[in-house]
Amino acid sequence: VLAEAGVDVAWCEEVGNVLPRSALSPGLAWLASTLSAASILDEMQEATGRVSALVGAVKTYSQLDRASLQLVDPTEGLETTLVMLRHKMGDEVSVVRQYDPDLPRIEAYPARLNQVWTNLIDNAVDAMSGAGTLCLRTLREDDAVVVELIDDGVGMAADTQAHAFEPFFTTKDVGKGTGLGLDISRRIVEEQHHGQITISSRPGETVVRVRIPIEGNGDR
Ligand SMILES: Nc1ncnc2c1ncn2[C@@H]1O[C@H](COP(=O)(O)OP(=O)(O)O)[C@@H](O)[C@H]1O
Ligand SMILES: [Mg+2]
Repeated sequence: VLAEAGVDVAWCEEVGNVLPRSALSPGLAWLASTLSAASILDEMQEATGRVSALVGAVKTYSQLDRASLQLVDPTEGLETTLVMLRHKMGDEVSVVRQYDPDLPRIEAYPARLNQVWTNLIDNAVDAMSGAGTLCLRTLREDDAVVVELIDDGVGMAADTQAHAFEPFFTTKDVGKGTGLGLDISRRIVEEQHHGQITISSRPGETVVRVRIPIEGNGDR
């Protein structure tokens, strides 16, 4: 602890000269515990900073403080979802962002949309077996915004594409997939936001396209 704090032999000798012999050992022990408390404090401060950044992301992601229909920036939703999934994505997935800088805000339920981005990114990471490139693209199309999630994973066989949106349809091992991700996402996009979700896929490229009207949303 003393060495880490920059204490050297010369300093120790100086202290030895001023402190009575009997006080030397307790004096150094006191100093060591004070210094280690200080370094624990430093670490705690750093950890607290990380935690509050995470809490901020969780709050934005879950929108705990804002439950109803909002004016939502879709790009912000994608970004907070990425923060939440960073752990699952690891270092082997690179994310390419092609965001329309002029994308308008949309009338939407932000926490529900974040659930959609989570399900879709989760699927993309699974399809890439944890390594590959995920491209997130946003654009405006007439009176709607479009979010495309493109992965370079295995792709979907024709049979899988035909059934992918059915509840409980999964090609994953028991315990890994529930088969509900796309069903839930479709309900959120189509029933709660009057939008559309479509998939086009071939080996090495799957594009999931979510289209949401800018205005006039809300539960039917
Ligand atoms: N990006 C993707 N690439 C390849 N296959 C996909 C992709 N997204 C979904 N799928 C296929 O669709 C199926 C259903 O997806 P989902 O409803 O999210 O359920 P789950 O992920 O639990 O299996 C998956 O099991 C997988 O076969
Ligand atoms: Mg899924």
